[in-house]
Amino acid sequence: MASPSPPNDPATDPSIQDLIAARPWLKYDAFSGLMLDDVPLAGIADAVGTPTWVYSATTMRARYKTLTTAMSDAGLDTHMHYAVKANDSRAVLALFATEGAGADVVSGGELLKARRAGIQASKIVYSGVGKSAAELRLALEEDIGQINVESAEELETLSALAAASGRTARVALRVNPDIDAGTNDKITTGRATDKFGIPYDDAIALYTKAASMPWIEPVGLATHIGSQILDLAPYRDAFRRIADLVLALRENGLPITTVDCGGGLGIPYRNEAAPSPAGLAAAMKQAFHNLDVHLAMEPGRWLVGPAGVLLASVVLVKQTPHEPFVVLDAAMNDLVRPAMYDAWHGIVPVSAIDAHAPAAPATIVGPVCESGDTFARSRALPRLVPNARVAILDAGAYGAVMSSTYNARPLAAEVWVDQGQWSVIRDRQPFEAVWERERLPT
Ligand SMILES: Cc1ncc(COP(=O)(O)O)c(C=O)c1O
Repeated sequence: MASPSPPNDPATDPSIQDLIAARPWLKYDAFSGLMLDDVPLAGIADAVGTPTWVYSATTMRARYKTLTTAMSDAGLDTHMHYAVKANDSRAVLALFATEGAGADVVSGGELLKARRAGIQASKIVYSGVGKSAAELRLALEEDIGQINVESAEELETLSALAAASGRTARVALRVNPDIDAGTNDKITTGRATDKFGIPYDDAIALYTKAASMPWIEPVGLATHIGSQILDLAPYRDAFRRIADLVLALRENGLPITTVDCGGGLGIPYRNEAAPSPAGLAAAMKQAFHNLDVHLAMEPGRWLVGPAGVLLASVVLVKQTPHEPFVVLDAAMNDLVRPAMYDAWHGIVPVSAIDAHAPAAPATIVGPVCESGDTFARSRALPRLVPNARVAILDAGAYGAVMSSTYNARPLAAEVWVDQGQWSVIRDRQPFEAVWERERLPT
């Protein structure tokens, strides 16, 4: 199974300058150091402290435009449902609401958060293998656009709840196409052995059943084969299988108006070749152009991942007979992707002087009591001293949203950069807040 990033071979790591050159929203200023959309990150770190997430609103907007333009240029009428799980900050949700996007949610909490951020109920699709009765009731009450049903059992529950509430549920069947997306094992979702979706061979029978249920309105099919997908071939294979199913359903006289193609488009964290939105649009067009269906997408990482950095400070540098350990004040409880998926993230100094200083291999770690709390090994970085700042790149997706308070470490602050201004969108959690909902037993 391919990992989402190439193996950690430091000899092929991009240089600090290459990393920055590939991300035009970042640049070094000789005096101010690393800047995000012309806002010096050192100033934010001085004011807010570290660790702190910083997001570029302009980059998110620009990427949304690029994705929607790629679809319209291909002649596809595609509805965008931002995958809230990638970054559920209210500021991010409000930005995409303003852009006209809908949302793909996977819990009652995400559904409510998306609604409160201004995303129209009719533009919300709800996926997930274990929606509780309470969550399904909420989806019915909110009258959301589409519930992506993932099992026969869920369809039965939803049918009963819809009848009880007197509200018709618009449903797509999320089909598992049994395609290996070739991404990290933990974020591959479209193999028959993965827990997601309805087995391909059961789809026609279940769709037929759904069509017979008085309070269920089947509108189409959905699929999502994984995340951080760097190859279009599995998309093409999955879409072909879904298109075959559309034809088979129609031959059975069943109505089908929508195909939801899911998310998963990968981004280059290191220097991987990643597919373009135009390439994905071409794959969608090839499969669905003559089927007269509305298309939907659930992009997450591609929209927000590159737009965020995690700012951290060096606590100390521990010399060893091997290579030094640079211990940061950010840890796996903040950004879990390296520990969880062996993910590679660019790490660059905030100081422009440091950025141009001679580099030597170092291991970059956090202070959490796990050896897995390692951001990078044998990473060529300049000599960093205590209190020096670094930025961990491409941290806008599956970053803050996956944080925990492990080791009683408060959740980090989040900062929004928009049109040359910055503002705090989440305060650093005070220590007491980490345990404020606990009680001693009576
Ligand atoms: C159902 C569903 N849709 C969309 C996404 C978003 O994926 P990505 O952030 O890779 O675009 C996910 C995440 O894996 C998902 O589970």
